[in-house]
Amino acid sequence: MITYDNPRQLLSNPATVEPGAIRWSSPSNLAIIKYWGKYGQQLPRNPSISLTLDAASTDTTLYYEPKESSDIKGIDLQFLFNGKPREDFAAKVNQFLSSLLPIFPFLEQLSLRIDTTNTFPHSAGIASSASAMSALALCLCSLEDELFASLQEDEAFHQKASFIARLGSGSACRSVYGQAAIWGQLPDLQSSSDFFAIPFGQEMHPVFHSFHDDILFISKAEKSVSSRAGHGLMEGNIYAQNRYEQARSRMHHLLESIRQGDVTTFGEIAEAEALTLHALMMTSTPPYLLLEANTLAAIREIQAFRKESGHPLYFSLDAGPNLHLLYPAEIAYAIQPFIEEVLLPYCTDGQYLPDAVGEGPVQLEAQDE
Ligand code: PMV
Repeated sequence: MITYDNPRQLLSNPATVEPGAIRWSSPSNLAIIKYWGKYGQQLPRNPSISLTLDAASTDTTLYYEPKESSDIKGIDLQFLFNGKPREDFAAKVNQFLSSLLPIFPFLEQLSLRIDTTNTFPHSAGIASSASAMSALALCLCSLEDELFASLQEDEAFHQKASFIARLGSGSACRSVYGQAAIWGQLPDLQSSSDFFAIPFGQEMHPVFHSFHDDILFISKAEKSVSSRAGHGLMEGNIYAQNRYEQARSRMHHLLESIRQGDVTTFGEIAEAEALTLHALMMTSTPPYLLLEANTLAAIREIQAFRKESGHPLYFSLDAGPNLHLLYPAEIAYAIQPFIEEVLLPYCTDGQYLPDAVGEGPVQLEAQDE
């Protein structure tokens, strides 16, 4: 079992640390094969694969300086979301950082301030936890490297960032890589792991490099059942074991379609996975429903459009009512008018986020405090 615990990684003289700041922008991701069901410390019941998004991202700056007094125990954190204090998020981040002390003991020796902003609404089923937790994990790994020069090698840096992001939110571990990432052990992929994600972009057919993933905001309301609760309910779901086997088998076919550039197989599996995810919610005890009437109406429009036009436009869903539209860049000329004329009326305030496969997180110049 990989833990990364390192009780010796303490600053010998914390008072001499120069105040500084680290900033990362990290994207969200859309799982094509879904992770739904976990055990132990955020370990997945089945492997998953996602496309890394471009526009939907979180921009996080981690400011640090020596603690005024070593008498202040635990994590000393100030947390700002969109420039304003958010007590509920602050409490969660504080708890997360405290849980990371065996891995980053030096966090207890510093005063921290986290400033974070999203380019999209949080808790609306757009996996905001994936971008937020990956951005934070990248900041923490950069801080460790800044203080100890311990993560100089790119692969080691990303692997640890993915491991840390996973502890914050499972799906976040896939966001540290551009294009596409796989999380969970697969027998025919030696480097794959339940503990961190691995990049898959290098094996992707070029058609997927510029693939669109536009997000239709069917509803921006917060989810009635959190992902955490949803994963928990899988433990009592009578279909769970079959589901985990199905995910493995679909994974095998999906990887082949991504390698070959087989958009039809890719799209059919993506839609089947989206509906399976929501079927699992509907068959949990107690059952619940995150889809809205407009989600279903828009799905019908997409199916009819595909049939009539022959264009490979497919949909996916996250754990919420919003729709992801998946299609190759070369048919954007035909899809965009369809979105604007037919699908936007189903969206809240007629809004959507045009997005596409992206190159992954970027480290940015931190702004002065
Ligand atoms: O990372 P979590 O715990 O929020 O779970 C997210 C699960 C899905 O987004 C529904 C699927 C996935 O693999 O991202």
